[in-house]
Amino acid sequence: MKAAFIRQHGDPSSIEVGDMPDPKPAAGEVLVRVRAASINRLDLYTRAGIRGTKQADDQFPRILGGDSAGDIVEVGNGVAGLTVGQRVVINPLLSTTPFPKMMGTHVQGAYAELVAVPAGNVVPIADTLSYVQAASLPTVFLPTWSIIVREGQLQQHETAMVLSASSGVGTAAIQIIKGVIGAECIAVTSTPEKIQKAHELGADHSINYKTEDLAERVKEITGGRGVDLIVDSTGALFFEAAYASLARGGRFGTCGVTSGYKAEIHLGQLFSKELKLFGVFMGSTDELGQIADAAGKGQLKGAIHRELPLEEIADAHDEMERSDHFGKFVVRVA
Ligand SMILES: NC(=O)c1ccc[n+]([C@@H]2O[C@H](COP(=O)([O-])OP(=O)(O)OC[C@H]3O[C@@H](n4cnc5c(N)ncnc54)[C@H](OP(=O)(O)O)[C@@H]3O)[C@@H](O)[C@H]2O)c1
Repeated sequence: MKAAFIRQHGDPSSIEVGDMPDPKPAAGEVLVRVRAASINRLDLYTRAGIRGTKQADDQFPRILGGDSAGDIVEVGNGVAGLTVGQRVVINPLLSTTPFPKMMGTHVQGAYAELVAVPAGNVVPIADTLSYVQAASLPTVFLPTWSIIVREGQLQQHETAMVLSASSGVGTAAIQIIKGVIGAECIAVTSTPEKIQKAHELGADHSINYKTEDLAERVKEITGGRGVDLIVDSTGALFFEAAYASLARGGRFGTCGVTSGYKAEIHLGQLFSKELKLFGVFMGSTDELGQIADAAGKGQLKGAIHRELPLEEIADAHDEMERSDHFGKFVVRVA
């Protein structure tokens, strides 16, 4: 089969597109013909071998990528309830203990024509949901769903703020806040172009963190009250200003540290305002089912920055590293 893989860690030019052996589904697995796969920042980290993704020598060549959608072409022994020909989206989180195990980082990934995955990781999708849309969902909608719906329990009358709103995670968060909850949404991003796109995606208010004072703008927008929920994947960059902008009873959910791991927490604010600070990692396949269902009904729509063939994947990694994009890169595989 055709696949995009690395033989060693490196820059985007280390990605090769070539032949790899076809995978076979083990007992309990299904074989999926991948129609579309999307790129996540984790794929960039794995390609470079940074942030805990360094591969042992015997793991090469490593097929990158986790998020994907396609058709079941073979069903392994012991699989019930799934059949050949079903259109599915894959949850790339394979297990959570003792540490999260992700397709494309810890086992072979989905930048490939075929992938074998545990049956418990696939979700059938509606005919109304395209493969490209479905492949754009898992890794950005699962953590944001976990922050906004499961842990943060955002209510319709509340206000949520999305940090780095142009990231894949940020675009998913705006969609859930507006399309599923119907709450007020403040998008925080870095350029006028990204601000305009965040509004097109549904954000009610915006803050340009390069040119405006985040905490002051939140006060203006919320009449001094602050925000009820913050969705963060950026980490250090503006943690303190954002955290200080929480209303009493506010929740701060984090799923990433793109700009850095370390920030200072004002513990006085934590208890006096009865705040909650929590982290999430991806989410369950049941939750992916709820996300795919909402997407099939048109309540959620992955923000696609660029669609591309497998052969252009190195170029897409390069563009994503420059961080001028808005939303997702999706690879059309077959
Ligand atoms: N825990 C989980 O389950 C989970 C799941 C998915 C992703 N993540 C993490 O969440 C983060 C976002 O992932 P993604 O795939 O959505 O990423 P992405 O689309 O590549 O996000 C890039 C955006 O992040 C913002 N940014 C802020 N500081 C940056 C910096 N120093 N370098 C690069 N970008 C910076 C920029 O947006 P603005 O211009 O709008 O600020 C940039 O366009 C990553 O750290 C990823 O590892 C975690």
